Amino acid sequence: MSTEHPRKDTEHRRSGRGRSGMFRTKTVEQSIQDTEEPEHTLRRDLSALDLTVFGVGVVIGTGIFVLTGKVAKENAGPSVALAFVLAGIVCGLAALCYAEFASTVPVAGSAYTFSYASLGELPAWIIGWDLILELALGCAVVAVGWSGYIQSLMDNVGWHLPGPLTGAHDGKFGFDLLACVLVLVLTGILVLGMKLSSRVTAVVVGVKVTVVLIVIIVGAFFISGANYEPFIPPSKGAESAGGLAAPLIQVMFGFTPSNFGVMGIFAAAAVVFFAFIGFDIVATAAEETRNPQRDLPRGILGSLAICTVLYVAVSVVVTGMQKYDQLSVKAPLADAFKAAGHPFWAGLISFGAAVGLTSVCMILLLGQSRVFFAMSRDGLLPRFFSTVHPRYGTPHRSTILLGVVVAVVAGFTSIDVLAELVNIGTLFAFVVVALGVILLRRSRPDLPRAFRTPFVPAVPILSVVASLWLMLNLPSETWVRFAVWMVIGVVLYFVYGRRSSRLHGADTMRRPEV
Ligand code: ALA
Repeated sequence: MSTEHPRKDTEHRRSGRGRSGMFRTKTVEQSIQDTEEPEHTLRRDLSALDLTVFGVGVVIGTGIFVLTGKVAKENAGPSVALAFVLAGIVCGLAALCYAEFASTVPVAGSAYTFSYASLGELPAWIIGWDLILELALGCAVVAVGWSGYIQSLMDNVGWHLPGPLTGAHDGKFGFDLLACVLVLVLTGILVLGMKLSSRVTAVVVGVKVTVVLIVIIVGAFFISGANYEPFIPPSKGAESAGGLAAPLIQVMFGFTPSNFGVMGIFAAAAVVFFAFIGFDIVATAAEETRNPQRDLPRGILGSLAICTVLYVAVSVVVTGMQKYDQLSVKAPLADAFKAAGHPFWAGLISFGAAVGLTSVCMILLLGQSRVFFAMSRDGLLPRFFSTVHPRYGTPHRSTILLGVVVAVVAGFTSIDVLAELVNIGTLFAFVVVALGVILLRRSRPDLPRAFRTPFVPAVPILSVVASLWLMLNLPSETWVRFAVWMVIGVVLYFVYGRRSSRLHGADTMRRPEV
């Protein structure tokens, strides 16, 4: 320990900003050095291809398989395809910022680590706390969606779970046994090691992409041009969207809450944004990547591009197969084939969706355990959770703790509200990362950047504005819930994280000299 302080002190001077307290930053060199301490080191064995598979594995999921139908039916009609394009653009801008940060600060923890190196400890805590919300609830949402598809497949062969074990329905209490079991099994796989989980992921991703391609190619034969009329349905008032349920932007500017029309496309984009969540999680695997400087940007941008093309194609095909107001909200892709008189394809798609959602759930679980791990390694959460398993090389304690919590949440959760909460949390992280790119360029222009965001600061500023715009299109009640979660986080930081942070000791040592 005695040799540690002088080193930290030098690094603090190197970062040169003399910041202390809640805006103290952890230097990029310190972040990278921490990952090299043997008992806290994750195994480095992922390539750019692994990362792209990893990205596609988590990105394609409930968003395209479930939300497309709901959003086309309730907000946008066939123009849901435009909503996917809009959400894809917002994510593309964010991806350009993520890629620069991920290739500059290649350690576990994603936006959390990036903001620790650029914005300071309190903003980093806030973003880490926010990411835990995004990933944990996202995982719970996907597990419940998975359970729905499995139950639908079981129904086909006449197997039925007892009602109370099928989850909460229509405001009635219930426990979703399948969702809970899925999360626990995946937690076990993750504890056993990254290699196993990426192999499983590769197979699952193959099945999922095949099913999506089947929807596009086979479905194209059943398109009827009449279903695209009108492509953007005219705006109409939404009785159910009054008060807190209306998008914040409509409340702020005193609009009458409405669906469809051009505003409907934006509201739809704020929801289908969920379909893109996950490309940012590729960055959380930086520390387990063989050549992060080169492979991370490739993995992030590659998986995002593939998914955007597939989403637009799927939504164009599905809204062409069935009139938007007839689409099912639970299994729209499969049900469009049923409606066209092709139950075989419908069954195959349901099976593929169920398989595909498994990988989404697993990678979200992996991402959240890594953020928790990184925060604990920095002392912002108990250090107990940052010890790596001696045999499997995985952060087993944080994985098990969070796996159990998510399993319980998935058991008792209903999807809709949580998906919006996940979106607002993720968009908030995008805002912080984009600001971080600008700040880090100014505070550390010397750092090698394998990938440089083009047109800085224009692109990061556009990314901030675009993310904020989507956030404003989410319901006011989502903003309230998000604010509550963040307030709890800030209180925790001042009660625990601030004092136990590893930088706390360095700060106290340095202060008398200042
Ligand atoms: N993007 C992931 C999904 O759609 C989270 O399920």
